[in-house]
Amino acid sequence: MKHILSPSLLAADFARLGEDVDTAVKNGAEWLHIDVMDGHFVPNITFGIPVIKSLRPVTNAYFDVHLMIDRPERFVRDFISAGADLLCVHLEATEKIEEIAAAVHEAGKAFAIALKPATPAEAVRPYLKLCDMVLVMTVEPGFGGQKFMADMMPKVSAVRRIREEAGLSFHIQVDGGINLETLDTAAAAGANVFVAGAAIFAKGQTAQNVRRFAEHLSVL
Ligand code: DX5
Ligand code: ZN
Repeated sequence: MKHILSPSLLAADFARLGEDVDTAVKNGAEWLHIDVMDGHFVPNITFGIPVIKSLRPVTNAYFDVHLMIDRPERFVRDFISAGADLLCVHLEATEKIEEIAAAVHEAGKAFAIALKPATPAEAVRPYLKLCDMVLVMTVEPGFGGQKFMADMMPKVSAVRRIREEAGLSFHIQVDGGINLETLDTAAAAGANVFVAGAAIFAKGQTAQNVRRFAEHLSVL
């Protein structure tokens, strides 16, 4: 499967968000990972619908929206009209997976399910036919700059194995603590979409970081 970088805007400079987005995209990022947190599902608050709406006209990048919010079913339509291309909800945050997937697909957008570290791969099995992507968290969701949990790799491999057995083709994403080294570990386990925040956005170095990741991915 194609290897994709999805820079996480959580690590960008929010006072210069448009510029950071521009730099990432001009240097080879096709996706942007947008972390929405509600201070309830996770112990942190970031940004939401109006920020996505403001960014939409400034780039054609694919908006990979990671919702770390309780009962995300309440906001599906709002995130889609704001400009999300992919909506990723946590399995632990809702009892309405089928309804959300149906609404997202009806709008012609992609649907994904995220798994916190404690949630096993088996938990997502009943919903895999609905998934365009499965996100295996490689940190506890809530904060950027944490250490990669290598012990999540068996879960990545399990999701890949289940995908093969079922003859499906959804993406497998990893998120948290990704740098060039941990990216290789995750790719070997079966991931093909890599979120990176702290390793990408750094004052004056974002362009070269994105280029380095893009080159690295192109030869994987
Ligand atoms: C954490 C977020 C991540 C975060 C990753 O809850 O879901 O997307 O931005 O940041 P790094 O790459 O810095 O670990
Ligand atoms: Zn994320």
